[in-house]
Amino acid sequence: MKIQNICCIGAGYVGGPTMSVIAQKCPDIKITVVDVNASRIAAWNSDDLNQLPIYEPGLSEVIREARGRNLFFSTDVDLAIEQADMIFISVNTPTKTYGLGKGMASDLKYIELCARQIARVATTDKIVVEKSTLPVRTATAIKNILDNTGNPVQFQILSNPEFLAEGTAVMDLFNPDRVLIGGEETAKGLEAVQALVDIYSRWVPKEKILTTNVWSSELSKLTANAFLAQRVSSINAISELCEQTGANVTEVAKAIGMDSRIGSEFLKASVGFGGSCFQKDILNLVYIAKTYGLHQVADYWEQVILMNNHQRERFAHRIVKTLYNTVSDKKIAFLGWAFKKDTNDTRESAAIYVADYLLNEQALIQVYDPKVTAQQVYTDLNYLNSRTEVENEVLVKVHTSAYQACEDVHAIAILTEWEEFNTYDWELIYQKMQKPAFVFDGRNVLNKELLEKIGFTYSAIGR
Ligand code: UDX
Ligand code: ADP
Repeated sequence: MKIQNICCIGAGYVGGPTMSVIAQKCPDIKITVVDVNASRIAAWNSDDLNQLPIYEPGLSEVIREARGRNLFFSTDVDLAIEQADMIFISVNTPTKTYGLGKGMASDLKYIELCARQIARVATTDKIVVEKSTLPVRTATAIKNILDNTGNPVQFQILSNPEFLAEGTAVMDLFNPDRVLIGGEETAKGLEAVQALVDIYSRWVPKEKILTTNVWSSELSKLTANAFLAQRVSSINAISELCEQTGANVTEVAKAIGMDSRIGSEFLKASVGFGGSCFQKDILNLVYIAKTYGLHQVADYWEQVILMNNHQRERFAHRIVKTLYNTVSDKKIAFLGWAFKKDTNDTRESAAIYVADYLLNEQALIQVYDPKVTAQQVYTDLNYLNSRTEVENEVLVKVHTSAYQACEDVHAIAILTEWEEFNTYDWELIYQKMQKPAFVFDGRNVLNKELLEKIGFTYSAIGR
């Protein structure tokens, strides 16, 4: 079966870059990315490639080549579904904020709405590909909805979880460690799997394309994220011990990472992991384990989240404690707001939680992030119901320059590891600040010796 027409529902951080790269690599396949959010689609169609809705290094070059040739962005969801032979579902699956499984389970309402829409619109056979991260056995629910439409259209459901990391999405899509495709173990199922294998094998070596049953594929995605997050929580746990004992977490991470059985990746101690995946996927795993009565399994993985919450809180607490136990009416600069460098995504960013903690302590916060808008910062804080205003006084200000954000502050907190922070004139920043001038490096990225020579009091996670 040769796929000629692809539709992707959901033009977000996953759907946008993934489809752009498939379109670039497969110029003969027409790909339409659709979304109900009209302003997002307009941004994807913008002539000015700096206005794309997401920032990813290398993405604008891919869009420039493919958009208008075989890559299209549209709000006409029905038309794109109708025309496609393969439909990717890349809609958001946030943690439920209500009802059963609140705070833990994934909210599958957007997935279900997509399935119902496909069922309603489709008049020809389709392969439906789950791209969003989903709890194990979601494919059954999608299949149930699709198979009970009362019309003779046949659907095959595949699970093809996306492993790209934000900030390196385009490189990850060009050179994935592996591509995972789960499908039904029937003749039709295998044929559908092969159709998707044929697409990826245009640029991914065959030995890196794994095919499994649907459940293994769904569970592998949750497990991969849980293992990665667990490494971060493990090194963060050690960072607290380092601070007490005089060991240096960077040195410890290097020493253990050189053990080939451990490996050096994902051992950077930090103010805590963020992003749309880690917390959500682990909560999901915990919820699934509990559903099956596997309480020890659930508790084991939950600890990864508890450690992460603790790390964010202890970073904020350390700021207050060091600033003579009060930050009331003191200005604190936040350098970085995104959950990691090279992205404008702020979902679950540690910065939001640290800010919330400090605002409760009556601090004033001045934010600078190279890619995050002021509106996004306020949206994030409003979501937590943070104290951003008192009697019309704005407690959080967002600046377009780091130098402005550091004006008159008592302390600087580094929340994201943006590389530009190391290129700053730190002498000049020092002059602008209240003295003694403190830097709290939540990412272990600044040069301690240099800052201390200038006169800063410097403290970093795990040192
Ligand atoms: C993650 C997975 O890496 C990816 O495979 C999956 O598809 C989606 O979830 P992402 O959340 O985009 O990707 O970024 P990632 O690089 O994994 O970082 C997640 C968080 O962990 C960030 O806040 C990052 O700063 C933090 N982190 C990562 C650390 O604190 N220390 C590390 O050593 C690595
Ligand atoms: P992710 O990081 O998983 O890509 P995003 O939130 O960035 O998540 O993107 C998901 C996108 O899916 C959003 O732009 C949202 O508007 C879109 N979406 C959700 N439900 C539907 C739907 N039923 N039809 C079309 N688009 C949808």
